Amino acid sequence: MARGKLIVFEGLDRSGKSSQSLRLVEKLEADGHHVLHMRFPDRTTPIGRLIDAYLKGESNQDDHVIHLLFSANRWEASSTIHSHLAANTTVVLDRYFYSGIAYTHAKSLLSSTSSPSPPPSPLTLDWCTSPDVGLPRPDLTLFLDLTLEEAARRGGYGGERYEKREMQERVREVFGRVWMGEGDAGRKAGEFVRVDAGKGMEEVEEEVWMNVRDMWESVEREGKGVGVF
Ligand code: TMP
Ligand code: MG
Repeated sequence: MARGKLIVFEGLDRSGKSSQSLRLVEKLEADGHHVLHMRFPDRTTPIGRLIDAYLKGESNQDDHVIHLLFSANRWEASSTIHSHLAANTTVVLDRYFYSGIAYTHAKSLLSSTSSPSPPPSPLTLDWCTSPDVGLPRPDLTLFLDLTLEEAARRGGYGGERYEKREMQERVREVFGRVWMGEGDAGRKAGEFVRVDAGKGMEEVEEEVWMNVRDMWESVEREGKGVGVF
């Protein structure tokens, strides 16, 4: 029996991930597929509520702790994702572990420019990658890339922690490095496709759709099973 596909949207805040992922769900459903849409962080679980408070600045956490909580928030959904894929339901994710890696590592780049001595455990790219190793592997990751200028034209950012220009700049840089194949994350990335999110909504949608169709055909043709990251 055919299996569902795991499709991930990644990118900076304001890149249109939420709209594009929901549009894709509609299109796949119109094509007769079963689809589940999820977003990370999932703020509804007990771990997700800790993350939500942190992002809103209502609580503080050590950088390592919050990183592991973001990862744990994905692990708690891992068996749900596997069982949907096995039951031929496609799962579309609005953010996944690439955000986890890019945001935490970006933070270390910021703090290393502001403090003279390195922290005791630097948040290296590979350290940031390891808690997510073993999660269901995406069949396709669409990295919606947006320049900071375009993000600013779209009305800038909200008020959550990380929604600041300096941070977004570093996050974009790290996403770029992973996309180029750097570190364990880059080597394991597989189908990591960059989409220019500065284009019009419809154009982006079309590019997303073409990539999804190509991936779909190759998964079916080669009978690829669900992988692990
Ligand atoms: P959201 O705006 O998509 O709800 O995501 C909330 C913020 O959390 C966003 O700035 C990206 C960040 N984030 C991480 O730092 N680590 C993660 O693992 C994930 C999924 C998101
Ligand atoms: Mg946000």
